[in-house]
Amino acid sequence: MNISDAERIASVLESIKYKPALKMSEADLIVVTMCSVRQSAVDRIHGLIEKFRKLKTKNYKLQTILTGCIIKKDRIKFEKSFDYLVDIKDIKKIPEILNPSLRAKRNLGNYLDITPKYSSKFSANVPIMTGCNNFCSYCVVPYARDREVSRPAKEVIAEVKNLVRNGYKEIWLLGQNVNSYKDGKNNFSNLLKMVNKIPGEFWIRFTSSHPKDFNDEVINTMAIGGKITPYLNLPAQSGDDKVLKSMNRHYTIKDYKNKIEKLKKKIPGIAISTDIIVGFPGETKKQFENTAKLFRDVKYDMAYINKYSPRIGTAAAKLNDNVLWEEKKRREKVLTEILKQTALKGSQKYIGKTVDVLIEGKKQASESERSPVVNRAKRGSTTGAKNIWFGRTNTYKVVKIESFKNILGKIVKVKITEAQPFTLKAKII
Ligand code: 5AD
Ligand code: SF4
Repeated sequence: MNISDAERIASVLESIKYKPALKMSEADLIVVTMCSVRQSAVDRIHGLIEKFRKLKTKNYKLQTILTGCIIKKDRIKFEKSFDYLVDIKDIKKIPEILNPSLRAKRNLGNYLDITPKYSSKFSANVPIMTGCNNFCSYCVVPYARDREVSRPAKEVIAEVKNLVRNGYKEIWLLGQNVNSYKDGKNNFSNLLKMVNKIPGEFWIRFTSSHPKDFNDEVINTMAIGGKITPYLNLPAQSGDDKVLKSMNRHYTIKDYKNKIEKLKKKIPGIAISTDIIVGFPGETKKQFENTAKLFRDVKYDMAYINKYSPRIGTAAAKLNDNVLWEEKKRREKVLTEILKQTALKGSQKYIGKTVDVLIEGKKQASESERSPVVNRAKRGSTTGAKNIWFGRTNTYKVVKIESFKNILGKIVKVKITEAQPFTLKAKII
């Protein structure tokens, strides 16, 4: 979502004749799109402020803007350190903020209808909704991003059609909780069906889903296949019902597993990943064991495992963060070990098979590259290993391929020769 926001900000700036600077030290304007989900990301802003202070001593024209997901407390804290603090919903106002003579005479409308300056030529982020109404007890997003707002389906379809016409091969439908998309006429399932009907060769992916809203209708729509890829990130957050209740997640592990079973039955070969928080306040060893059991039962292909950290203003921040950091690290390691085994088993099924791979870059994909969003930011990189390219299958498995031809941004047919837990090796056929 940060990348997608930044793409819209870039477009607003180009409309007033700004050009991308090659180096930060050459910039006259720096816009920071911050993330508040984890404290570590917020702490990085302090480092940037110091850097900007030094840059400003060399370039008196330099201006800085802070935007993105910001909570109230940080807003107050960072206000003095940036020239402007802009709510993400107000990025259309950046021209008049920088130059009051550009004050708009009319209502500028929703920022999501800005045509973005896409950062990739073959994979695009298309936000379909923003904000969240769920208030999971650990999560800062509803405070930083406000309540849910969906984009009209017509607008989403027009954006996707335009991207496909321009050769885009992968479309990510984005939102904090895509399953609760509604534009008055359409729900998420309808929107998926409409995007699936757009002619052209491209893959549809979406994130994030919430198990409470991920229903049979969406499963049946995914089962239609077509351009909808057989991959799903379904964040469980915990494998224990009591912890889930304390997290305010509104589902039980039985509900969650039922959905996974249906998915696996209706979409053979589907790859599934999850998000997990270990060491939530009060999580006992026994409760954690239920998460380990969930991992063994579901046999995830990938998992994004987070150690709980309290976020000011959230309900969980009032609870006693009583699981020691060392214990959180241990729990993370236990899950990672199970994941490696289940992911390896999943990967080994690919050996000898012919699959399509969308080539994302010419760089050795490191297994530690966890976040799908961060990975996409790095797409198109051409540094690194010889002629080793990397890309992903429609099931989101990373594949390394040797090729002397430029295959960037193409969907190529390959034969899988080797399997590691999170990486496959393949030959072009
Ligand atoms: N502590 C640790 N992990 C968190 N996440 C969200 N809030 C917190 C927190 N306070 C994780 C969740 C979510 C992912 C984006 O970040 O697992 O799915
Ligand atoms: Fe945060 Fe929960 Fe909303 Fe996801 S659904 S953004 S975890 S509050």
